[in-house]
Amino acid sequence: MRVLLTGGTGFIGSHTAVELIEAGHQPTLIDNFSNSKPAVLDRLRDITGTDIDFFEIDVRDEQALEELMNVRSFDAVIHFAAPKAVEESVRRPLHYYQNSVGGTATLCEVLDRHDVRNFVYSSSATVYGMPEELPVTEDSPLSVLNPYGRTKLVCEYLLEDLHTSDSRWNIVSLRYFNPVGAHISGLIGEDPQGTPANLLPFISQVAVGRREFLDVFGNDYPTPDGTAIRDYLHVTDLAEGHVAALDHLATSPGYDAINLGTGRGRSVLEMVHAFERSTGGEIPHRFVGRRPGDAAEVWADVSKAERVLGWTADRTVDEMCTDAWRWQSMNPDGLPATA
Ligand code: UD1
Repeated sequence: MRVLLTGGTGFIGSHTAVELIEAGHQPTLIDNFSNSKPAVLDRLRDITGTDIDFFEIDVRDEQALEELMNVRSFDAVIHFAAPKAVEESVRRPLHYYQNSVGGTATLCEVLDRHDVRNFVYSSSATVYGMPEELPVTEDSPLSVLNPYGRTKLVCEYLLEDLHTSDSRWNIVSLRYFNPVGAHISGLIGEDPQGTPANLLPFISQVAVGRREFLDVFGNDYPTPDGTAIRDYLHVTDLAEGHVAALDHLATSPGYDAINLGTGRGRSVLEMVHAFERSTGGEIPHRFVGRRPGDAAEVWADVSKAERVLGWTADRTVDEMCTDAWRWQSMNPDGLPATA
């Protein structure tokens, strides 16, 4: 399939590009480099041994998207492009609504004009807010706690409404739990700008000596070791989930939302200890207060992904940490700013 990847040089987009090429698809990547670097493209070339079809385009730029559609044709789109930091979204709600919601609406308008209506959306477990029941199923109550979460949920509704208005649209919203790890080559991985907001990139930077210690947010949760529990999955498993979702769209039209996780919860301390096993060194950490808005425990019911997509996330926590560490130790300061 000829597949357009928006946000194609980002963390999940770049790993998905690799898996698509390996599965025999032809991806075209677009990105505005707001949270990624052009050097990713060289790395993708090295990993796949092929040229990468890339255009520097912002998904809000309708004219640029039109021009792209005039020179390329697509069977499907995977839409990753959107900002994703909770704390920033509270400070800059318009930026989040414009990019996420505005970008998705603009993209869909252009796609519709060009008869491209197979669409995979990059959603998040954030749409479940503070889950009241575990594991979280696709039918669990939706509740969003911040502008980032609201934009994800609004985009899901936008896409569902689009399908209702015109059943030629085939859409699947993939609700990611906590993607971590890196490509096994160590050539691409998560490369946050500034202080990492998420756990694994922070641990990696402590391990490589860029930061002194990890602040563990809360050790008084009602969990076995007192630290919060999440469902971490390897980004390569997640990328393979997108390949499975494309295959699914080709055979099962409609609108659907599907959880992508492992179905297993792990605590912050379990992740710290797994990372220590991977590096062979200690991850200095200290306990501080809970982070506002954090749930005690979140993990996925993944039976729908298994049933509908024939997909499971099988890579182990040790693989997640070993691959994250390989990427971080080969690229201690992330990728170079220029290619
Ligand atoms: C966070 C966002 C979520 C978003 C996801 C992906 C919040 C409340 N949730 O999810 O909306 O979809 O990132 O970008 O921000 N932790 C520490 N120390 C740290 C960092 C994290 O102890 O320095 C803990 C957190 O309290 C949490 C766990 O590690 O218990 C995972 O945190 P994180 O990686 O930020 O993911 P989520 O909070 O699940």
